Amino acid sequence: MSGPKVAIVGAGSVGTTLAYALLLRGVARHVVLHDIDVGKVRAETLDLRQGLQFMPAAHVDGSDDIDVCADADVVAVTAGAKQQEGQSRMDLAASTTRLMVDLMPRLVQVAPRATYVMVTNPVDVITYVAQKVTDLPPARLFGSGTVLDSARLRGLVAQACGVAVQSVHAYIVGEHGDSEIPLWSSATVGAVPVIELTTEEQRAQMAHDVVHAAYEIIAGKGATNYAIGASASRIIESVLRDERQVLPVSTLLSGTLGLHDVCLSIPTVVGAGGAERPLAPTLSEDELGGLRAGADSLRGAARRLGF
Ligand code: 2OP
Repeated sequence: MSGPKVAIVGAGSVGTTLAYALLLRGVARHVVLHDIDVGKVRAETLDLRQGLQFMPAAHVDGSDDIDVCADADVVAVTAGAKQQEGQSRMDLAASTTRLMVDLMPRLVQVAPRATYVMVTNPVDVITYVAQKVTDLPPARLFGSGTVLDSARLRGLVAQACGVAVQSVHAYIVGEHGDSEIPLWSSATVGAVPVIELTTEEQRAQMAHDVVHAAYEIIAGKGATNYAIGASASRIIESVLRDERQVLPVSTLLSGTLGLHDVCLSIPTVVGAGGAERPLAPTLSEDELGGLRAGADSLRGAARRLGF
């Protein structure tokens, strides 16, 4: 059965939800799971495989052997420490960095031509580390970034304005984390600016709710998985189908908006070539100031990790 192969590293709740989303949406013809926990990866593979009758044609494999990722078209990396209640994503940085330093070169060895989508948190710093240890072209190794945050924001604006979420065009840029920046200056409902349809208090509340969304869910169920799984599936779909969607993925910047040597999210054309080119909107002074401060904080985190 020929067709695109997606390898998912990490058979935890995010990785397996991503596998399920890819299969249900018929994005890949071959989905493989890789995890060092042999019992877990076997069980997840069997569980997914036994639902294939109800999904578009595909097959599923899984193994604790990294060779199962061989020759993948896309590799999604979800492996890493789980964010505990009250922990920030950045608290996971040190342990996850050590994992990536070992894992990424071995992955590129077995899947040298793949496009790599980093999902593991803190995703911006992890994307930067993965970039440095693999030296892949920035277009071919990027992070899921603020695709999920932007979706969360669009959902809240849609609710506030009583419209379909698909009619809200709004981006969150910067860190997938506490320093992220909602671009109210370019956000629209249909063709109407959001700032004409909402009050400053409403926008402040929505921005707060997006930043705290994951913390609330983690407190209640221990992790988030459905929305991040669907977000990552959407990104991979845009790559494999060369859709050229404009998505706020986290890429290594070299001059966009005056930012250098940092991975963070800017709206970017995502197609067969990966994160092909940033399409940076005009930002207000406040938005640009906040983005630069977030970039400094991410760069500092990478330096403290030795990168
Ligand atoms: C999320 O935002 C935890 O990064 C994950 O759902």
